[in-house]
Formats: sequence, C-alpha cells, structure tokens
Amino acid sequence: MNYIKDQENLKDKNILLRLDLNVPLKNKVITDQTRIDKILPIIDFLIKKKSKILVISHVGRPKGKINEDLSLKPICEYLENKIDKKVNLIKENIFKLKKEDLFKNSKDQIVFLENIRFYKEEEENDLNFSKHLATLADIFVNDAFSCSHRAHASISKITEFLPSYAGLQLENEIKALKKVTTKIKKPITCIMGGSKISSKIGIIKNLIPKFNNFVIVGGMANNILSYKGNLIGKSIKENDCDKFIDDIFNTAKNHSCSITFPEDVAVGKSLEDKALIKKLNEIEDDDLILDIGPKTIDKVKDIIENSKTVLWNGPAGYFENPSFAIGSYEIAKKIIDKNKNNSIYSIAGGGDTIAVLNQMNAFNSFNFVSTAGGAFLEYLEGKDLPGIKALN
Ligand code: 3PG
Ligand code: MG
Repeated sequence: MNYIKDQENLKDKNILLRLDLNVPLKNKVITDQTRIDKILPIIDFLIKKKSKILVISHVGRPKGKINEDLSLKPICEYLENKIDKKVNLIKENIFKLKKEDLFKNSKDQIVFLENIRFYKEEEENDLNFSKHLATLADIFVNDAFSCSHRAHASISKITEFLPSYAGLQLENEIKALKKVTTKIKKPITCIMGGSKISSKIGIIKNLIPKFNNFVIVGGMANNILSYKGNLIGKSIKENDCDKFIDDIFNTAKNHSCSITFPEDVAVGKSLEDKALIKKLNEIEDDDLILDIGPKTIDKVKDIIENSKTVLWNGPAGYFENPSFAIGSYEIAKKIIDKNKNNSIYSIAGGGDTIAVLNQMNAFNSFNFVSTAGGAFLEYLEGKDLPGIKALN
C-alpha cells in the first residue's frame, strides 16, 4: 500500500479525496461530528502541501436519487467553520463537469462534489463513472476506512484510473485494528445492535467462532424475537432471514458460543413516545420495540462483568430519544466501569455507537473507538475489504 503521507510533489495537484462524512443528520442538522473531526488531519496535510482538494463522500442511502435531505451542504458548512477556509459545494451533474470547472478562482483550495450516492453508478462500481471521476483529478486518496467494505466506484473502481494512496485516518484505523486483533484475551464478548440489519446479519455467523459470547440487541434482535415466535408489532425487521438465524444458532452450538438476545423490551407507539417496559408476550400490534428492558440489561451487564475483552457495535435501542437510550447507556457504563480498573479491553465501532459515547462524553473511556461500523466488522471477520484491496 502506498501512503499519501510519504508523497512529495503534491503542489497544485488535484487530489480526489474519498472521505466518509456519513454523519447522522436530523432535519439537515448534524447530530454527531466525530467523522468530520477525524478527517481534519488529511485536509490540513493537503492544504499545507498546496494541493487542490476535491472531496467525495456519501451521506445516508439515497439509492441513486437526488434527495435534498441528504445534501452534503451542512457538512461543508461545518468544515468551513472548523478550518476557516472557503469550501465550495458543486451541485452540478458530475457527468457534465470538467477539470477546469472545479477550482475557478485561483484561491479555491477545497471543493466538494454533492452526495456521490445521488448517482446510481456509485454503488454499481460503474466503470465509466469512475473513469469520468478520474478525469477530474491527478491523484486519488482513500481516507474512508469506514466505507472500504463497499465495492463502489469512488472507493474501488476509481483506483484503476488514478495513482492511488491511503490517507492518514485510514492508516490509523488499520494499524489500530491490527493491534486489537492480535491482543485478544478471553473470554471475549461481542455486543451487536443497531438498525442496519441487512448488512450485518450475514456477518454474525462468521464472527461467532471468534467469540465466547454474542449479545444481539437493537433492531437486529427483532428478527430473532420474531423467529422465536414472538409478535414484534410494527418494529423494524428484515424479511426472509430465518435461514441466517438458523445458521447463527447452529454455528453457535458448534463453537460453544452463547447467544443472548432480549428477554424484555421497551416499546413505544412512535419514535417520540415514552418508553414502556414489556415482557415479550405483551407486545401489541401497534408497538415499536425501541430498547432492551431491565432484565436484559442485567443479563448483558453480567456477561460484561465476566469478560476480558468486549467489542461493541451498534446501539441497543433508539438512543436518539433519551427514553430509549437506557439500554445503550447501561452497556456503555458497565464497560467503562470495568475499563477503569483495567480488567477489560474494550473496542467500540460504528457511527451510531460513537454518537452514544459522545452523548455520554465517554469517547475516551474505551481502549479503541473505530469510526467504522460495517467495515470494522468485516475486517474482524478476516475479509479482504474491496477498498483496501484496491489500494494494494
Ligand atoms: C457507515 O456508516 O458505515 C459507512 O458510511 C457506510 O455506509 P453504508 O453502510 O450505507 O454503506
Ligand atoms: Mg453508519
């Protein structure tokens, strides 16, 4: 892998910089800035090198369609304030852009293309789209470790058309993950939650052999509850995943990994509601499961108490509403307590998990926090990440 930090002649070069600025937005307002703050070093580095920086990022999953709610505008504004430099957002159709359209004013040093996932070609890893992107720059830098599990045009295909380098944050993440995967002390527990069920449910099976305990909470757990014959009302759920769950339980049995899932839950009639604790057999048709209940919390704390390593990815509930943040907070508090006397090694990952830790002001209370969610899990699985492979 070649690293941008080792490169000299970057002056006046157009750098196509792929970042993961997929921060949580609520009504176009950023609710957690961590992912932006983490990439300030690469921006600073390229500014000092007097490069021209062309930033590409996605936010959310607009599925190839323009969606103004997922514009990068608030992110550009935040960055502009943070670095006290003009940041231009180019909203024009990328296919119509030419290199000379980008930095019209000789003082301009940073421009953003609009959300790259407004183009269906991005997720298709489209050759012509990548080729066209490459005409806009001289060098490609991937500083988006957290997107590097996606074989997308601006992460993977693009490297076929430009000299390509690893960015500073990508390098940090890989180094740290290498370290944590060689340092593991058992018993080791994985706590997995969150709402990106479809991307994660297939991963669980491959992770199970590496863990003594696997705790499944958050949206992901609804699938298990439903598989076990419970009614889950209007709660989020992935269709047709009984096969995955069969695999999860069989693999766990074969590898003596214990699986824990909710015994009780907190429900609401809407996301804005107040939490009501229910047993599994009390869930009504119009209920939304939005957090784990107190019995489950106690059980998870017990498992943490008896672990030497804990890895946490994905909140236990809809933490954006404080009424449903209890499960996530209690998990975090227990891990942090154990960390204080060095009796556990703790790793957290994922955009939403970071948001929980930030809400609690606990970002630095874990041994390692990765900005990556899915990429972090796939790396732990031992998979070759397309974005990393493309840099090698
Ligand atoms: C993330 O938030 O994990 C990355 O930005 C990737 O997003 P995705 O899961 O929508 O591909
Ligand atoms: Mg995310």
